[in-house]
Amino acid sequence: MEKLNSKKKIAVFISGRGSNLKNLIDYSKLKKSSFEINLVLSNKSNAKGLKYAKTNKIKKYVFEKKLSLFEKEALRLIKKFDINIVCLAGFMRVLTPIFLKKVKIPVINIHPSLLPRLKGLNTHLRAIKAKHKYSGCTVHFVEEKLDSGKIITQKKIRILKKDNPETLAKKILKLEHKAYIEALEKII
Ligand code: GRF
Repeated sequence: MEKLNSKKKIAVFISGRGSNLKNLIDYSKLKKSSFEINLVLSNKSNAKGLKYAKTNKIKKYVFEKKLSLFEKEALRLIKKFDINIVCLAGFMRVLTPIFLKKVKIPVINIHPSLLPRLKGLNTHLRAIKAKHKYSGCTVHFVEEKLDSGKIITQKKIRILKKDNPETLAKKILKLEHKAYIEALEKII
């Protein structure tokens, strides 16, 4: 039986810097948080974000070779640690339909654009080139089709004339950190 007031257990998949992971970990330590971060998985051994798992004593695993092995081990660990939600945070592989079918818990992702606009990579450059007035970020459920699942939260920002991909990325990353927490609290 589920304990009263028990927090949801989260696994975070990363490939790189891990600022979203760090932000989720920091928030999860607050009393008001409805979740805790119990597991970090990376498909890159040099992912900078792995250090946040280490400093916070969170179990971390790296499966670098094949996506099929990553997914197999991920399913095993999700079961072993009784994980309730998977959060993708800068995870640079597209999970297979087989994994998404087998996982049986929600998988959510953060994407740096106002979906359905600008799916895929280099969103900030593409937003500026296309002269979009606004950009932002989206937290959404992960489905088979890339960046296409149901939207949970979006945050929007005006693109200024003086913005370049770097300045825009920096501003949107701040929004991402807020959006991810809001989205998790919303679905829990
Ligand atoms: C973020 O911009 C996220 O939206 C995208 O990849 C980036 C990851 O950044 N999917 P970080 O590793 O969380 O710092």
